[in-house]
Amino acid sequence: MSLIKKAVIPVAGFGTRFLPATKSIPKEMMPILDKPTIHYIVQEAIDSGITDILFVTSKHKKCIEDYFDNFRELEDILEISKNYEMLNTIRDISSMANISFVRQKEQKGLGHAIYQAKTFVGSDPFCVLLGDDLICSDKKPCLKQLIDVYDEYGGSVLGVQDVDLKDVSKYGIIDGTEVCENLYEVKNLIEKPSIEEAPSNKAILGRYVISHNIFKFLEQSLVGKNGEIQLTDSILKLVSNENVYAYNFEGNRYDIGNKLGYLKAMIDYALKDDSINQELRGYLKER
Ligand code: G1P
Repeated sequence: MSLIKKAVIPVAGFGTRFLPATKSIPKEMMPILDKPTIHYIVQEAIDSGITDILFVTSKHKKCIEDYFDNFRELEDILEISKNYEMLNTIRDISSMANISFVRQKEQKGLGHAIYQAKTFVGSDPFCVLLGDDLICSDKKPCLKQLIDVYDEYGGSVLGVQDVDLKDVSKYGIIDGTEVCENLYEVKNLIEKPSIEEAPSNKAILGRYVISHNIFKFLEQSLVGKNGEIQLTDSILKLVSNENVYAYNFEGNRYDIGNKLGYLKAMIDYALKDDSINQELRGYLKER
């Protein structure tokens, strides 16, 4: 059994790439079919063996708390109307995991958001899942793939995939030596490098298993790229002290923080939904 039971999901950001919708709807609550995107992220964590989840949140994100809470009045209505299938779905959501919340009072960057989880994490290794990255794997959930690497090798494990060189400046990019197929020992990592600076095209895509030792570096972290406290900078400090691996995970990753990525996710998930798949195929062909 894996030691990894805790996950941190930062949801405090403004979602500026999806304004004006995100002026009043947190981006994590934008739906893919009939579930908000955050539901899929939490489901991935649970399917990977996570039992305890901490959301790092901010004001204007209260509806994320509501989504994972009980809703007795709605349950009563569904019970009276004998809609037992939906009743179970609604009940399941509020008992998916032990979910707690902490506020990030100022938006100082991903490193600062993760630092808010220090007490929750204690001295355990933990996971981070970023809500902009929706990952669909037909075999093993992406996070479980990383946890399996952790269980064998220890240290910390970053989920990576190759991206187009023209896109390296959107991501944390790693440099590493190959340990075995798909697994690298990280030697260097740079947050959002230019094409010239990028040591490779292997990008961190929103899934991490991290040693609790990260907190001593996050505590001292200064602002980095784009004036923000970057998680990547503290992981680089971790590299000098203990093993950090990068695992080229299997799965389709959607950047749902932008319009096209969101739409691609919506179409692919809809094509897997038996209730609409045929009609959608017909419609897409027709268009
Ligand atoms: C964050 C991380 C970056 C990572 C990316 C993945 O950047 O800082 O290292 O590659 O997520 O989506 P953000 O997209 O929040 O600017």
